[in-house]
Amino acid sequence: MKNIDSISHVTGRSLYVDDIPVRTGTLYGVVFTSPVAHGNILKLDTSQARAMEGIAGVFTAKDIPGENQIGGVIPDEMLFADKKVVFHGQPLALIVASDELTARKACRKIITEIEPLEVVTDPREACNKGMLLVPPSTFRSGDINKAWDQCEYVFEGKTETGGQEHLYIETQGAYAYVMENRHIKIRSSTQGPTHVQKFAAKVLGIPMHRVEVDVTRLGGGFGGKEDQATAYACMAALAALHLRKPVKLILHRIDDMRMTGKRHPYSADFKIGLSKELKIIAYQATFYQNGGAAADLSSAILDRSLFHSTNSYFIPNTEVTAYSCKTNLPPNTAFRGFGGPQGMYIIESAISKAAHELNVPARLIQQKNLLREKDHFQYGQVAKNVNIGKCFRLLDKDFGIEKIAREIQSYNRKNVLHKKGMALMPVCFGISFTNKSMNQARALVHIYQDGSVGVSTGAIEMGQGVNTKILQVTARTLNIHPERIKIETTNTTRVSNTSPTAASSGADLNGKATEIACIQLLKRLLKTAASMLNTNPDKLAISDEWVLNEGKRSKLSWEQLVKTAHLGRVCLSEQGHYATPVVHFNKEIAKGHPFAYHVYGVALLVAHLDCLRGTFRFDKVCIVHDFGNSMNIGIDMGQVEGALAQGIGWMTMEEVAYDKEGKLLSNSLSTYKVPDIFSAPKEVKCIPLSVKGPKPAILRSKAVGEPPLMYGIGAYFALQNAIKAFNPAYVPDFNAPMTPEKVLLRLYQ
Ligand code: MTE
Ligand code: HPA
Ligand code: MOS
Repeated sequence: MKNIDSISHVTGRSLYVDDIPVRTGTLYGVVFTSPVAHGNILKLDTSQARAMEGIAGVFTAKDIPGENQIGGVIPDEMLFADKKVVFHGQPLALIVASDELTARKACRKIITEIEPLEVVTDPREACNKGMLLVPPSTFRSGDINKAWDQCEYVFEGKTETGGQEHLYIETQGAYAYVMENRHIKIRSSTQGPTHVQKFAAKVLGIPMHRVEVDVTRLGGGFGGKEDQATAYACMAALAALHLRKPVKLILHRIDDMRMTGKRHPYSADFKIGLSKELKIIAYQATFYQNGGAAADLSSAILDRSLFHSTNSYFIPNTEVTAYSCKTNLPPNTAFRGFGGPQGMYIIESAISKAAHELNVPARLIQQKNLLREKDHFQYGQVAKNVNIGKCFRLLDKDFGIEKIAREIQSYNRKNVLHKKGMALMPVCFGISFTNKSMNQARALVHIYQDGSVGVSTGAIEMGQGVNTKILQVTARTLNIHPERIKIETTNTTRVSNTSPTAASSGADLNGKATEIACIQLLKRLLKTAASMLNTNPDKLAISDEWVLNEGKRSKLSWEQLVKTAHLGRVCLSEQGHYATPVVHFNKEIAKGHPFAYHVYGVALLVAHLDCLRGTFRFDKVCIVHDFGNSMNIGIDMGQVEGALAQGIGWMTMEEVAYDKEGKLLSNSLSTYKVPDIFSAPKEVKCIPLSVKGPKPAILRSKAVGEPPLMYGIGAYFALQNAIKAFNPAYVPDFNAPMTPEKVLLRLYQ
């Protein structure tokens, strides 16, 4: 089935926040932000701005009727700074005017006096100064101290990974208006409508039931709108409530880039110990996460880095400690992979280091240490239906790993100024929110009298195709045609207390809730059919919109059945509630069973280097990915390709740069380079592993949103190998992204 949005997307008819037809009297907001990264606010004078013609209002911390607090996990983030600013670009005021240009002009009339304080942007420096967002967290398994004695080889190293700008095509924004009785409606570009509802209510000092959040779709989120859409929705709502006028607030790209948080940069130390047979016996690491100025989701992201710190390998003795460091940067946030990519980069670096020192291909170490059935993850969960070995075998069978390696060797022998390098990148990614309570969802399914169906869930469509998947679940469960079904907007008054659409589990959680609701409806309808056909419901089924009686088509169609059920006063609406079974995790001892299942896969990447220029491309990427039983292979392949490109971008070209004063330097697309069609691998081949999907996966179709991003990590190591082929003196270092500039330096160092 095609993505149900494809036609409206390509014809430009899909609606985003800025496309919503505005109401009469709509006003426009612009955020005034801190010009410095750290300081005491001595003066914030908005009077001149207020006095300008066309200005409807200027709102600061003083105008907040409720709490000036939007910290999602820890209450440490203000909507508007009041006494202190802690990052460059931190909101100080919202200016609302009859048009945006006027609001922008008024921005320049605001006078601030800020006493500068020391700016810290480096996570290790912050850690040394004791500036942590949350207490450190450690995962342990086996006995690390005893383990080193059993190792034949021990290697140590240091790694750096950079940030990453989400670059959703639709920037952050919201449109808020007051209905009667101070009921406020917010159209927001958010992955977490309930998060917006909860914090808008808190900021406005009203109960949640007075705030209705409605989301049609997002022009991308990638984690950047899991928590960070909330501030702008709250600001629009605050102004709308004060002014009793609709208020629209959409960030310009340059403002979005400098004000919002990104993927967390990590600095890390590792120590890896191997046996003579190249079995990894011990792994010890310390992660320094650059959290930015407020906690946001940093602690949960830190946890996922720990969960994925051994990637797809079984390592009997581990000890990994992670610090979430408080710096004067915009609070960093969720980004596809949610800390997993950072954790995996570090273990892959350790393996690359060992491979270099031992003069063996990294793939040998990778393959010797793959997770096997019933191995324990270091967090206690027993690995079940482990598919990583199968993925490697299929990759080798279909593409020939050693054959490609030989081809590269021979290419490198024949060419002086062009070199190739390959790397394998295995992935094992846990599916579920690591916070147990978030693993729940609801769906509201209405069957209308005419037989058409409307489905509301908590899922947010952001391009990943979750609405199409939910439509498929409905069609399959009710056995009716897709044209009969409409997926409604995501609305907090129809479906309440939603988890954000994140952790790749949007389709699983909301799809399961939809399935549960549909099964209940089907049961009721079949009961009606049974009384009409004078038989037992067990003998009946619906297929292709007809009631089957003992497998044979009866005279009863879907439409007739629905109509009769309604006349017979049968309820044609149902709410389904789903809570992922089994998952649990005890943070105190860092053990449990946090994931419903794991997604596996492996990629082989071939980098092609121009050794005069330092430029490169990826000739091919061969992937075996474990989709389970993909319910929509077109959408799922799209997720693999998009995530791969995004992962390669993070590893090879996207460089988030701040100056020492904490000001973003890479604040536009001329200074922040993202992958485009020309930098996409020349050839991407992805083969689905043919295995049965697990039960908690919707229709046994595994979650796919985040895992393939981590295939991109292989790009770094493929480039390393190409550099080595040109410059044998190059000692692999681990400092991502490996930009062409860095490549050039390493070719001739
Ligand atoms: N794909 C598109 N096109 N746009 C997005 O914003 N977000 C990713 C992934 N794929 C994203 C995307 C992230 S970070 C997650 S967690 C999942 O989609 C969320 O959707 P799902 O749970 O329905 O897979
Ligand atoms: N993944 C994504 N988002 C989240 C998670 C997670 O594990 N936990 C809380 N928010
Ligand atoms: Mo995705 S980072 O869990 O929104």
